[in-house]
Amino acid sequence: MHIAVLAGDGIGQEIMTEALRALDALGLDDLRLDHADVGGVAYRKHGRPLPEETLELAKTADAILFGAVGDPELDGLRRELRVESAVLGLRKELQLFANLRPAKAFAGLEDLSALKPEVAGAIDLLILRELTGDVYFGEKGQRTTEAGRREGYDVMAYDEDEVSRIAHVAFRAAQGRRKKLCSVDKANVLQTSVLWRKVVEEVAAEYPDVELSHMYVDNAAMQLVRNPGQFDVVLTGNIFGDILSDQASMCVGSIGLLASASLGTSTRGLYEPIHGSAPDIAGQGIANPSAMILSAAMMLRHSFGMETEATRLEAAVAQVLEQGVLGQDLGGSASTSEIGDAVVAQLAS
Ligand code: NAI
Ligand code: MG
Repeated sequence: MHIAVLAGDGIGQEIMTEALRALDALGLDDLRLDHADVGGVAYRKHGRPLPEETLELAKTADAILFGAVGDPELDGLRRELRVESAVLGLRKELQLFANLRPAKAFAGLEDLSALKPEVAGAIDLLILRELTGDVYFGEKGQRTTEAGRREGYDVMAYDEDEVSRIAHVAFRAAQGRRKKLCSVDKANVLQTSVLWRKVVEEVAAEYPDVELSHMYVDNAAMQLVRNPGQFDVVLTGNIFGDILSDQASMCVGSIGLLASASLGTSTRGLYEPIHGSAPDIAGQGIANPSAMILSAAMMLRHSFGMETEATRLEAAVAQVLEQGVLGQDLGGSASTSEIGDAVVAQLAS
């Protein structure tokens, strides 16, 4: 098991330390960890947020554990040197088109959700967001109209292959869960969505055991807050998925709890918490490492097929939360390393 460890900026370093301790506590065989710089740390040392040697390591490792990038002192850099471009570069270079973001209620935390406890307690969903298309990668620019007004534009486009490959990932994910798939689009207005819906319907024919439904994105945003328990797998495009997944995280309780996997056609994946580098709390030892540890669990499952170990790690994090070992993001006072200690102790018990 060869893992590229890219801790990055801000709290990335602190939470990565705890994730590696938790992996170590699992007592895995043949674990090889190679560290490399990414983000602001890399820019300061090498003049680039995604140095060649980091990309090379990411391409040759079996999986990538990624902390976060983001450094407010470097915000003035031009677009291609911005430290956030490192994560986009990795996704693009490694063709990681499927972003899996599970959101599940944790026992004992229902009162901390922005939703009513009984509504929040029912959350157990997986958002599958397409990562390499949509308005983020279509033709874009700024121009002057004939009337002399400034205009910005971003073209939304998906071709059928891009839709079908993510749809297959979503149907297979649903088969491993409660066999319900809700595809979210805006087919009442957008031609991109009309094609999206048609292709998802075509792919559905290969998965007769999965119950497929379609929902407009505005309704989906409403339903996520009204009754999130109705969702199993939610399949959607890049921009809708970006927004809906942040919304789903707050329904669970804290952004410090949500992990993600970015996958392509091989088993090589990139695993990272959904939050950023949290410069406001960096260096204080108070970040919640749960999302990072849960990202390591997703790595064990998706890149190495180690379902038992992944489940053990997830259960340890859930038990620690249930015991009330909470960081400041959840109204507690446990430090980053105290939460890590508790997870390691749980794994040893
Ligand atoms: P953020 O997710 O870093 O922080 C948002 C808020 O949540 C902050 O108040 C932070 O203290 C808190 N928070 C985040 N993670 C936490 C944790 N594990 N434990 C406790 N509290 C936590 O988002 P923000 O502030 O918008 O962005 C900060 C930097 O991170 C920016 O430079 C941004 O571009 C970058 N970023 C990087 C991402 C990545 O590496 N994939 C994703 C999102 C943002
Ligand atoms: Mg986002």
